[in-house]
Amino acid sequence: MLSTSLSVTLDRNSEEPIYRQLIRHIRAQIESGLLSAGTRLPASRDLARQLGISRISVVNAYAELRAEGYLSAHAGRGTFVAGERESMPMPTPSAGHPSAHHHNESQPIADRSLQEMMRLARKPGVINFSSGAPPAEFLPAQHLRHAINTVLDRDGAQALMYEQTEGFGPLRVTVRDYVSALGIRCSADQILITGGSQQAIDLVVQALLGEGDLLITENPTYLGIIDVARARRIRLQGIPMDEDGIRLDMLENAILEHSPRLIYVMPSFQNPTGRVMPLHRRRQLLNLATEYNVPVLEDGVYHEFRFEGEAIPPLKALDERNTVLHAGAFTKNLLPGMRIGYLISDGTHFDRLVRVKHAADVSTPALNQRAIHLMLERGVLAQQLERNNRELRRRRDVALEAASRYLPPGSRWNTPQGGLYLWVELPKSGPTAAELYISAIQMGVAYAIGNMFFTNGGGSYRMRLNYATHRAPEIEEGMKRLGRAWRELAYDYAELEKMPLL
Ligand SMILES: Cc1ncc(COP(=O)(O)O)c(C=O)c1O
Repeated sequence: MLSTSLSVTLDRNSEEPIYRQLIRHIRAQIESGLLSAGTRLPASRDLARQLGISRISVVNAYAELRAEGYLSAHAGRGTFVAGERESMPMPTPSAGHPSAHHHNESQPIADRSLQEMMRLARKPGVINFSSGAPPAEFLPAQHLRHAINTVLDRDGAQALMYEQTEGFGPLRVTVRDYVSALGIRCSADQILITGGSQQAIDLVVQALLGEGDLLITENPTYLGIIDVARARRIRLQGIPMDEDGIRLDMLENAILEHSPRLIYVMPSFQNPTGRVMPLHRRRQLLNLATEYNVPVLEDGVYHEFRFEGEAIPPLKALDERNTVLHAGAFTKNLLPGMRIGYLISDGTHFDRLVRVKHAADVSTPALNQRAIHLMLERGVLAQQLERNNRELRRRRDVALEAASRYLPPGSRWNTPQGGLYLWVELPKSGPTAAELYISAIQMGVAYAIGNMFFTNGGGSYRMRLNYATHRAPEIEEGMKRLGRAWRELAYDYAELEKMPLL
């Protein structure tokens, strides 16, 4: 059968994303009878070329129109205008996936922004592997209630006043003791309390870099540092990683060629790859940075999320020349919403960091600092870590098992010894992670699109799955849905590719 050519005019200046415009046009042509039942639509690649838009826009538009029942895909033949409006070729809503109409009316997707696409992950019924958060059931809410009551009884209005910008004194001492157990020697005066580790990172970038300066990261890296660099107009260069972390040969070249002002790394359970930098690489990195006098910002937010293997000291514990600034937090491991983090730095940077912090928010809330301080003193963190890591390991095992059962053949992933993430690579024979995304949402599962974590594109077939946020049965079901979504789309792709354009 001949495939029709579509006559569509797209407005590139419109607020409406291209892929939604495409949906609107095709839907209107079907409803008006211009495109009749049984008409074959062009293959996604051809339509993309014809209209001068990205293929993912067409893939997403087709996927949504199929979900709405306007189109149907027939294995081996292509995508057709459906006869009677067909129902979604998906599990029923009782299986927990969102309905097409839901999808249509709520948050619009901007295909130009993968991050916006990922908002769909919050739709009810979606098994969401996309977040960076610990599971809600890990949060010690009762302990927090007791701590807040005790602090209010004990400190009264003091707990509700402005706090010193550096942080609540006793908390700084407790943090010093806490990091000293990890091997970091510092005084309480070197510790700045921050609004989570995110603020610690932002403050360092603001204090040490100016507009146009270069920041080096691992590639892929944490999304939050990419956001900070954009917001502060900092240039970013990602250095490829191997299994042991950032590649030092390439790092050295970049230092020599571009004189970066800061190197940002996550040596333990790197986000998104889950990798751990071994001790020898940590030492080499430190030597290199010290030799060229480039400060290193160590993000240690996942350091204590180890459930297997031997602990490796943080970079800061190996640092004898004050090359390293160390960011940490009681967010992922205790209470993300309390926003208590810390930054360890030496005298040269400390005063400037305090001034930037003061300009940002005067101080981190006094009540939160005091409540977290009390919880640390009461040993809540130690209890939490022990219990959480046991459960994380269990969930990791379920995720690995389910991945090998349901992910498409040829997929690859890491075996994390800690942290929250599986870093998956899909086979290149099928859709990219971005192309798969809408189908996955329709199937009732979400993930973080790997591409977002790269500083220069790349990683199209990668996805990050947070296995921590769901219990075993949902992890299993989520992987099953992911595999199903991939198979369905990959099949269409393979078939569409085979068809000549007539
Ligand atoms: C590597 C890394 N650093 C920092 C943060 C920020 O966390 P918070 O500000 O809650 O401590 C995150 C959160 O996803 C992260 O993954």
